[in-house]
Amino acid sequence: MILTLSLGLLVLVHGACSTSPPGEVYQPPPQPSCNDSRVLSVAGLALEKINEDRKEGYIFSLNRVADVQEHRQAGSGSVYYLTLDVLETYCHVLSKKNWKDCEARRLHDSIYGQCKAIFYVNLPRRILYLPAYNCTIRPVSSREIATLCPDCPVLLPNNISDPWISQTVTESLKKINKEIGVGKAFHLFKVTEARTQWVVGPSFFVDFLVTESPCTKSLPKACLPPLANAQPVGICEGSLIRDEIETSVSGKCEFFQSQPTSAPESHPPEHQVPQQLASSTDAPPLEEPKGSVQLLPDPSVGKFEDFQEKRPIVTFPVHVSLTTEPLGEVLHLPSHYLLEKEELPIVLPFPEGLRSNECPGPAEYPNSLILPP
Ligand SMILES: *[C@@H]1O[C@H](CO)[C@@H](O)[C@H](O)[C@H]1NC(C)=O
Ligand SMILES: *[C@@H]1O[C@H](CO)[C@@H](O)[C@H](O)[C@H]1NC(C)=O
Ligand SMILES: *[C@@H]1O[C@H](CO)[C@@H](O)[C@H](O)[C@H]1NC(C)=O
Repeated sequence: MILTLSLGLLVLVHGACSTSPPGEVYQPPPQPSCNDSRVLSVAGLALEKINEDRKEGYIFSLNRVADVQEHRQAGSGSVYYLTLDVLETYCHVLSKKNWKDCEARRLHDSIYGQCKAIFYVNLPRRILYLPAYNCTIRPVSSREIATLCPDCPVLLPNNISDPWISQTVTESLKKINKEIGVGKAFHLFKVTEARTQWVVGPSFFVDFLVTESPCTKSLPKACLPPLANAQPVGICEGSLIRDEIETSVSGKCEFFQSQPTSAPESHPPEHQVPQQLASSTDAPPLEEPKGSVQLLPDPSVGKFEDFQEKRPIVTFPVHVSLTTEPLGEVLHLPSHYLLEKEELPIVLPFPEGLRSNECPGPAEYPNSLILPP
């Protein structure tokens, strides 16, 4: 998928360069539309970079391109200022999956929002560089969901001190360790999400990251405690379903592919990109995060009393900027990108309040409950 997209882009960019014969008066190209296939490819690649950079939360998928400004650079390449409407998927960012391979959430579980990103694309030089992004997300309004689907599960505040959440984790981990913890023991690293639903009685569903520690074969109790700096090795789903007579517990896990520490942008084999492009897009290890994700609360929580009130306007404040200079500044790329000084791109303040033609583009999931205004 990446391969075909990248090659498609390459052709388009070359095509665009060859259409203006030398010597002609330069006309700034019109801003592309949010449904332009090149913009959609660029937005998808930017979102891959955002997901790769994140250490917490679930992988975002692209719902629509809300806005785009392209600033063509001297030489080849463009700086894009992207506003993307995103949806969380069910894949954790540590799984390092491609967002296109991750299942969209069901409406009642949805977490949605907006990312702004500055993205430098120079395909002749094989550069895809995301210097900055920021995102703001919220859960779908629980009030709206309660009206549409009163029996759907409800997100719980993610609090391990909640006795139901901690019991669900403890019991499901016990089961997981008995069934799959051969030669090792799994331990809670962090709860990532918790829900409750009335099934045959109050029931709890908890997703949590786990670390592992080795056990000796001979003695069943000889498992080491987790190391203080142990990193998560997988994500598990535990449930506790209660009725009047009994409680049934389940647990299952998905383990992450171990990541070679020296190659931070290694793709799983099914997403192998051409070798030259892959090596040129590798970021140096231990880079600073390029942005952050802010999770805002469900605006309808605690507002059930004014049920008649019309839907509140939900905002997604998100700002990203690398400069305040109106004419911009030179963007300094990591040294392994090998650009000549005069080829370095200029980055402008993020253009706010301008909207390109035909923006926002069409949404993959056009439900207004999960689209930022
Ligand atoms: C977490 O749950 C505990 C026990 O129910 C409660 O005392 C505490 O206030 C909760 N913390 C937060 C941040 O909600
Ligand atoms: C991202 O947002 C945070 C908090 O709002 C802000 O401090 C930071 O400067 C922003 N990042 C960039 C690159 O603009
Ligand atoms: C977006 O582009 C696709 C393919 O080019 C086209 O089929 C679709 O009608 C366009 N949608 C809108 C809303 O312009």
